Amino acid sequence: MSKTSVLTDDEIGILLTAAVHAPSMHNTQPWRFEVHGPVVDVLLDRKRLLPSEDPAGRANRIGIGAAVLNLRVAAAMLGRESRIVPDPDPNCPEVMARVFVADRRTPVPGLGSLYGELRARRTYRGPLLDQPIPPRVTGRLDEAAQAERATLRWLDADATSRLGELLRRVDEHDLHDEDRLHERLRWIGGDRSGDGIQESALGPLPTGPAFVRDLSAGSDSSHRSQAVFEDSPAIAVLCTPQEDAAAWLRAGMALERALLVATSYDLAASFLNQVLEHSPSRAAVRELVGGRCWPQMVIRLGYPAQPAHGTARRDWRDSFDRWF
Ligand SMILES: Cc1cc2nc3c(=O)[nH]c(=O)nc-3n(C[C@H](O)[C@H](O)[C@H](O)COP(=O)(O)O)c2cc1C
Repeated sequence: MSKTSVLTDDEIGILLTAAVHAPSMHNTQPWRFEVHGPVVDVLLDRKRLLPSEDPAGRANRIGIGAAVLNLRVAAAMLGRESRIVPDPDPNCPEVMARVFVADRRTPVPGLGSLYGELRARRTYRGPLLDQPIPPRVTGRLDEAAQAERATLRWLDADATSRLGELLRRVDEHDLHDEDRLHERLRWIGGDRSGDGIQESALGPLPTGPAFVRDLSAGSDSSHRSQAVFEDSPAIAVLCTPQEDAAAWLRAGMALERALLVATSYDLAASFLNQVLEHSPSRAAVRELVGGRCWPQMVIRLGYPAQPAHGTARRDWRDSFDRWF
């Protein structure tokens, strides 16, 4: 068997720049990378946990899965195939995924074509245009999620309105949860560079009840702009057939693949994951989507009415080690 060549410095830069553009809860960027020859290990950075809002580490793993997908997209753009082993070393649980990058030097169709969307994708928390998503496009998003062994369950009007009730109850509850509010202060609001969500990326405040999460709820928002939001956006729940650590990683890969395809159709997405951060409301969402699969992300999708503001990233070199 031929020996796979080590990744060059340029290739490592391309792969890890792509990886760090992944979405992560509160933009914590909970990853570290180690490169050994042609292998990239993606590790959990324990300094970037969210113990109050994500005690089981589910959201962390979803973010890491998204970073893995981006890495594979960049490898495919470079003409290299890649293979993933989740949790490769029981003695080293912080290694959450090992990506083997093969030597092939021909274009890898599918994934590689998404490379151009990596930097354009961003979470958009503003109002959406009153313009439905064509079924042809929702079909592409379904395929993207299925390619990573997950599914998108689209909510009908009745399920959307029941989700709205759940959101209002959870938002009200969270407003009185000091631990959560305190945790968010570390990551959300104000001016930021490197990580977290600066105020401009939070979007305008809705003038009435809306399907958007105000991540700075509970803080002073008197100076934020306001906007009229759509009544009933398209909402898809990303689901996995199982509920375990491997499924969470898969969910992140499926999420990012679907988001990159959405970006290629000029769609914008934000998330209503507060309902998945509490067991009773997560169980209720599970019922809304038929009770058989496990909801991992609640995604609001549509055509943006305003420009989106991106969030910053740490330099990939700050979370990287190389071993020969
Ligand atoms: C697992 C996970 C959960 C998230 N939950 C929410 C959420 O409930 N509400 C929200 O507005 N954004 C949510 N986000 C989006 C992140 O805040 C966003 O990805 C991060 O700030 C980086 O910004 P970007 O997506 O624009 O690159 C979530 C992202 C991930 C990966």
